[in-house]
Amino acid sequence: MRKFLSLLGKGVLALLAIAIIAAAFIQFGPAPTYEEVPIPDLEVEVSPEAIERGLTLVTNNCQNCHRGDESTSLAGRYFDDRQAQKDLGEFYTANITQHPNSAMAGYTDGELYRLLRTGIKRNNEMAIMVMPTWALASEQDIHDIIAFLRSNHPMVAPDPTEHPSHNPSFLAKMLGRVLVKPAPYAETYPERPPLSDSIAYGKYQIDNVNLCFFCHSANIQTVNQLVPDQSPGYLGGGFVYKHLDYDIEVPGLIPTADNNMGKWTIEEFVDALKYGQRPDLPAYKQPMHPYNLLDTAEVRAIHHYLSSLASN
Ligand code: HEC
Ligand code: HEC
Repeated sequence: MRKFLSLLGKGVLALLAIAIIAAAFIQFGPAPTYEEVPIPDLEVEVSPEAIERGLTLVTNNCQNCHRGDESTSLAGRYFDDRQAQKDLGEFYTANITQHPNSAMAGYTDGELYRLLRTGIKRNNEMAIMVMPTWALASEQDIHDIIAFLRSNHPMVAPDPTEHPSHNPSFLAKMLGRVLVKPAPYAETYPERPPLSDSIAYGKYQIDNVNLCFFCHSANIQTVNQLVPDQSPGYLGGGFVYKHLDYDIEVPGLIPTADNNMGKWTIEEFVDALKYGQRPDLPAYKQPMHPYNLLDTAEVRAIHHYLSSLASN
């Protein structure tokens, strides 16, 4: 019996030692890398048309996170989501201007493509989870984003802002080892539907490029990135976004009898989405922002799609 107890004690000690070594490895070991995920041989054409389309995509999709604290240039800032900080640690959205010391420095077009599609950075590590990936955008949209980052636009003009190193939590490091994996490349990517196919165009804006479904579904952590409309509570709202200074519940976008979407006319929706002007309501709080570079026709297409989801 005594022998058995002593063996048991040794077993427990051994398990404990393994757990401590595993924890130390997670805390202090190097982050996993994904050099095997190919980098396409790509050189995007920086035409005036591509830059203009890219400006809209970057303003809608990147600027809200990557703008500087005091400027509209993409100099990066402290990430102001309280819950993400509690769970994942403290971190900064990168300086992605053309400054030689920015996070973009040295990136090739192919490396940017891989980052935007899969989440893998130039150093082959995964970007911190809050940086989204665009697994469902058309090839042209991704190329246009890259073209804009290469352009002479003031938003990407060299800005020397530097940020402290990230301070990822143990949880973030553990998730990075066991759960967070690069988004897969698809065999083929969809084309952006023609605006004349209004409902399909609206869905594309919500699911494939602007990622409205991330915030506007039941929970940002349970969305289905690859099949957005199968996310739990798709566009039904209810997620509470914990900003540094306040909590804000994200409203539903599918019109119902009691939400704003169900009450507004299509013109009121256009004013709300494009200009942030809502009848009897104050300006948007972060992280929502007006989408003023979308054409009215594009916003109407978004409304057509959302209306098509209402059950009546
Ligand atoms: C929800 C916030 C958020 C949005 C939206 C976002 N990013 Fe990021 N981005 C981040 C964070 C946080 C980092 C830092 C990631 C890290 O260091 O692991 C980052 C890092 C980067 C980097 C630097 C990667 C490196 O190697 O250090 C690039 C380039 C970048 N983002 C481009 C973009 C582009 C282009 C868009 C829009 C198409 C975009 N991001 C949208 C949060 C965001
Ligand atoms: C990063 C999270 C996030 C993203 C992405 C996002 N929203 Fe929002 N949205 C919010 C939050 C939070 C509010 C509430 C803002 C407030 O009341 O001040 C909001 C409010 C709205 C409202 C007002 C609704 C009402 O009932 O008052 C509309 C309309 C809207 N969003 C549409 C969209 C569309 C369309 C997209 C994509 C093109 C989008 N949002 C992307 C977080 C987001």
